[in-house]
Order: sequence, then structure tokens, then C-alpha cells
Amino acid sequence: MLGRAIREQPRIFAVAVTGSVLFGLMVIASAYVVGAVVGKVVVPAVARGSVTDGALALAAAALFGISVLRVVGIFGRRLGAGYMQYRLQATYRRRVTRRYLDLPLAWHHRNATGTLLSNANSDVEAAWYPIAPLPFAVGTLVMLVGAVVSLFLTDWALALVGLAVFPALFALNVVYSRRMAPRQARAQRLRAEVSGIAHESFDGALVVKTMGREAQETARFAARAGDLRDALISVGKLRGVFDPMLETLPSLGTLAVLVVGAIRLRQGAITVTELVSVAFLFTVLAFPVRAIGWVLAELPRSVAGWDRVRRVLDATGEMPYGEVALDPATPAPATLAFDDVHFGYEPAEAHLPGAQVLGEVTFTVPAGKTVALVGPTGAGKSTIASLAVRLVDPDSGTVTLDGVDVRELTAASLASTVALVAQVPFVFDDTVRANITLDRPGIGDEEVWAALRLAEADGFVAALPEGLDTMVGERGTSLSGGQRQRLTLARALAGRPRLLVLDDATSAVDPRVEAAILAGLRAPTDGGAPASILVVAYRRATIALADEVIYVEQGRVVARGTHTDLLATVPGYADLVTAYEQAEQEREQTRTYDEVTPLTSGLEVEVDR
Ligand SMILES: Nc1ncnc2c1ncn2[C@@H]1O[C@H](COP(=O)(O)OP(=O)(O)OP(=O)(O)O)[C@@H](O)[C@H]1O
Ligand SMILES: [Mg+2]
Repeated sequence: MLGRAIREQPRIFAVAVTGSVLFGLMVIASAYVVGAVVGKVVVPAVARGSVTDGALALAAAALFGISVLRVVGIFGRRLGAGYMQYRLQATYRRRVTRRYLDLPLAWHHRNATGTLLSNANSDVEAAWYPIAPLPFAVGTLVMLVGAVVSLFLTDWALALVGLAVFPALFALNVVYSRRMAPRQARAQRLRAEVSGIAHESFDGALVVKTMGREAQETARFAARAGDLRDALISVGKLRGVFDPMLETLPSLGTLAVLVVGAIRLRQGAITVTELVSVAFLFTVLAFPVRAIGWVLAELPRSVAGWDRVRRVLDATGEMPYGEVALDPATPAPATLAFDDVHFGYEPAEAHLPGAQVLGEVTFTVPAGKTVALVGPTGAGKSTIASLAVRLVDPDSGTVTLDGVDVRELTAASLASTVALVAQVPFVFDDTVRANITLDRPGIGDEEVWAALRLAEADGFVAALPEGLDTMVGERGTSLSGGQRQRLTLARALAGRPRLLVLDDATSAVDPRVEAAILAGLRAPTDGGAPASILVVAYRRATIALADEVIYVEQGRVVARGTHTDLLATVPGYADLVTAYEQAEQEREQTRTYDEVTPLTSGLEVEVDR
């Protein structure tokens, strides 16, 4: 992993390590200069009672020069390490989010949103955490080697003390990080879980509130947050045990140097200058050696984070686009054809069997025609819609647009040819205009208004305080359900698709308006070419507008024909359409009742509670 980091940012790493090595060498040099100053200036001065100005100036200049070089070293190291760490984090955040968008829907269904957020955020951050102290640690290793060499050049007995202390420090650091590894990994996993629960309860705030589950949700969150706290405290406890040991060891080293050094001094093997230098060296070495410990201590958390990031980066199953471009110069409606399509969703867990959702589905939406897809709940209508716009690929059989398998099409061709208005509308936290154009080229205000008119949304948009520039709030919270639906419809229309797939896209809209919208789409009044339309519908008025009705039950096409034919010949179809119509009428009636007697219905709610 560290190798990968260095390969990604080699130059910055070189700058940081150079700075760090310079710093390390200057630490050693400073010890010897301090030793020399003591031996050559301070001791003679104490003996004689006076100092020569020249010696003092020389000592000051030497100390100052070394300090300047140390500052330069620290500057280079810090700057380089910071650049490297934050650049890597930014790069990998981009890669992870890019990967999310490339991965298929099935993958997203298997992975919780909160976890994905934590992958892109705290896992990426954790993965590159040890990068900050890494150059420092590399410089420190060089410094330790330099220190041992200079010790041997000074005196073999003192060198032996160094050889005992430095490896012991290193070993202590290794034991420390071994112990730390599982704790840090656990804390990192819990961070993701806490983020997942938090995300889910904010997302489901409406359900939580209306069902009175605040206390339970808080308890669920508190339990995980408590686990995270415990995990972090156990990290802290370990730190509390090892940190003082890491502090103490070099001090013990200094003590040993003074004892051994005093003996060697008496034997005449070393000078005062040398003894002071070595003792000072042990004191100043203690701090940089900790850098190695920092890297080792952060590595487990980093590896845990990296494993989770890599799971995303290495995830497979994205659907590559093909090479065939449908000629965009032809604004004619497209032909959609399903040929013996079989499809099943991937099971939620690998060991479970996947159930087949669609079988032997064959039908055509001829150019410029409207085909209605009708069927009971769970019949597979949304699945057919997803296949038509290639959100998923069939297990067998083909889906073609103008005779070309959708798997062969380029991303741009697919996006400009078909548009899906999904069953659940999604609106970005942005202006009305941005929600409709989505930054696609060639969509000016004129086109936006034309699309809004077709979607019968021009009225309410014009009445908004800032018109097209009105912000709609997160997920369009400032809009009504029907307004949101019409906005997403206008978004699809603005791109002038040649095939429009409407998945129950007007359910929250008044039946009369729904029929008007569909009629407008079939025969645009602004001179534009009509699109082919595949519409999932329930209402009689909507279905009656279709050229052909396809009736699906349990993933199979059971019957097809005109609405009138099916009503007469297919009992299931007649039941479904009639039942829906009755439900709709009852809804209409209660609505009127509510409007007429708001006080009574309000009281009823109170009594019910
Ligand atoms: N992401 C998914 N993973 C697994 N199974 C799914 C998934 N989405 C849908 N299904 C299953 O596929 C079947 C068809 O679902 P689909 O959403 O296509 O039905 P539908 O006809 O659109 O229903 P509705 O009228 O309620 O919208 C259902 O049995 C459903 O449980
Ligand atoms: Mg559906």
C-alpha cells in the first residue's frame, strides 16, 4: 500500500523524504556540535574563567547554521507529506465515487448507502493516514543508521548501548502496532456502521416520526455509537500503556550512556566532547523515532480502510457500453423490441437462489406508437422498463432499439435515444432549471419551457417565487408529489428522446391531466416529431389512448391487443382495470368529503388517536 502511495506521488515523496533525511542528519550534527561547543568552549571557559570572542562566535554560527538547515528539512517534509496525503485522499475519493456510478444497480441494491458514504469518506481518509508520518519515518531510519555509524566512529562501548536501545525501541513499536491492529480495524468498521444507521434514520425520518419510532431509532443508534466509543477507548488505553514506555526507553538509553561514558572517560578512551555529544544524541533521537511508531500504529486502521476502499474499486459487474452509434440526425421515433427476454434479479446473498422475474417476454413498440403495459403489482412492469433503458441486461434474449441490441450502443446514443421516467421521481437539490437540463447541451430556457408545457408543469413553475431559478430543496421537498412527477417528466422530455418509457410516471397527477399529458406526447403541437411511448398505466383513460395494450402477469405476457379487445376477452385484465377504477373513484369521493367538512375529519383523527 505504501508502495502504491509512493508510485502515485513519486516526486512529492522524494521532496518530503529529502527534507526528512536532511532533518535527521542535522539532528546528529547538532548533537556533535553541542558536544564540541561544550568540550571546546564551555569546559575551557569554566576552567579559565573567560571565553574568547572568536570561539563563542564560531559556536553560535555553527548552531545557527544547523538550526536553519533543520528548519528547511522540517518545511520540506511537512509540506511534501501534507501534499501527498491530501492529494491521495482526493484522488481516491474521486475514484471511489466514479466507481459507484459505473457499478450496476444490482450492486447498489446489495450495499447500504451509509456504508458507501463511509467508504468514500472515512475509509479513504483512514487508508492514507500513515502517509503524513511516512517520509518522517523513512528519514528517521536513515538517521538511526547514521547515528549507529557515528557511535561506532566515536567509541565501540557507547555504540553497543545504541545497538541495544535502538532495536528495543523498534521492537516495542512493532509490538505496539500488532496489538493496535485489531482494535483500529474494529473501530473503523464501527464508524461505517454508525454512519449507515444514521443515514437510514435521517432518510426515513418521515416513517420514524409518523410511526413514533424516535426512541427505538435513537436506541439503535446509541447502541452502535456506544460500541464505537468502547472501541476507541480500548485504542486509547493501549496508547496509554505504550506511549510512556516509548518515552522512557530513550531516557534509559541516555542514563546508560552516562554510566558507560563516565567509565570510558576515566579510562581515557573518550573525551568530554564525545561523551556530551553521545548523551545529547540519545535525547534528541527519542522524538523522531516515534515517527516510526506513528506509521506502524496507523497502518492497521489504514489497511482496514484500504480493504474497504478496494472492495469498491475491485467490484465487478459494470455493464460496458458498445460501439454502435444510432444516427442522432434522425429525429424519428425509435422502435423498441423485446425478443424472448428472460430475467432474474441477483439474489441478495450469494448462496440464495435467484428467482426468475421475467420469462419469454416478446413485444414491440413500433415507431411513433404508444404501448401500454398493464399488470398487477409485482408482475414485472418496472423490470421491463429497466430493461428497455438498459439499467439491467437480460439473462437471455435481446432488447433492441431500431434493430440494434442495446448492449451494442454507445453511452451517448443510449442516453439521447431513450428516456425513463421512473416510478419514484428523483429531484436534485438544485434549481428547477438545473433539474430539467442536467447540464445537457442544447437545452436552453425555450426548450425547458416547451418541456414543462408538455408535462403540464409550466403553470406551477411560473407561479414559483423565482420561476426556473427556484431551488427545490433536497429531493424536491418543497414540491408536491405530483409536481415532482411532472418535473421529472419534463426532464425526460427536454432531451427530446425518440423513445419515452413512463413507469407509472403520472400516478400522482389528476386523471384528466394524465390523459392530457399523454395525448400531448403522442401528438406534439409544437411541430416536434412524436416519440414512441412505452407506458406503465392503470387508468382506463390513459390505457384507452394506447395503440396496443400488453397485459403481464407474473413476468409473462398473458395477452395483447387493444383495450376494448382485452376488456372483452381477458377476465383478469377486466378485473384489474375495474378494481383500480373503483379505488380511484372512492379516493376522489373521500377527498371531496374532506374538503367539505374539514372540521369533522379533523375530529375523527383526534378520536382515532
Ligand atoms: N432489486 C430487486 N431485487 C430483487 N427482486 C426485485 C427487485 N426489484 C423487483 N424485484 C422483484 O421482481 C418482481 C417484479 O417487480 P417489478 O418492480 O418489476 O414489479 P411491477 O410490475 O413494477 O410492480 P408495481 O406495479 O408494484 O410497480 C417482484 O416480484 C419484485 O419482488
Ligand atoms: Mg413498478
